[in-house]
Amino acid sequence: MRVLISEDQIQARIRELGRQIDADYPEGPICLIAILKGACFFLADLARAVTRPARIDFMCTSSYGQGRTSSGEVKLTKDLDVSIEGADVVIVEDIVDSGVTLNYLIHLLRQRKPRTLCVAALLDKPARRIQPVELRYVGFQIPDEFVVGYGLDCAEQYRNLRDICVLHSYHEAPSFATKER
Ligand code: PRP
Repeated sequence: MRVLISEDQIQARIRELGRQIDADYPEGPICLIAILKGACFFLADLARAVTRPARIDFMCTSSYGQGRTSSGEVKLTKDLDVSIEGADVVIVEDIVDSGVTLNYLIHLLRQRKPRTLCVAALLDKPARRIQPVELRYVGFQIPDEFVVGYGLDCAEQYRNLRDICVLHSYHEAPSFATKER
């Protein structure tokens, strides 16, 4: 396993993103919506990097199933707890690969009439994009390698690594590894 982005680099970049968000929403409050499970660490750090009043909420989707690539069909497995009508909403994602998940969520959330809606993604892997998606805040653009840590998993392992790391080969991953990343 090789460190791609260190804990210090992640935290420094998140502080910058927090300052950008503060500058963009001078009126506050904002609503940060994290997409489980991977974005939970990013949400926790980003929410504390922002000084505006911020509400947090969670959604959970599933599109990879048992396959190694997105099925292209997203299922919502957990919805928001509260209305976002009239709110300034930032969707908080750990990684954008194909763009399928975000396109589904953006379409769904727009119907709920937020005042504004945008995306903050810690990692952007443009080489794997199938559906274009506008990312307002991006932590890092990364190459097409399988990354784990800081919320990202391989068959549910490695999420609690402090750094973002590349798994050199799938042989290092558990044999029931299910998805590309
Ligand atoms: C990951 C990631 C995004 C999605 C991105 O979630 O957190 O939600 O995949 O992929 P896409 O751009 O190809 O749609 P995943 O389904 O792996 O769930 P997890 O966060 O629980 O690991």
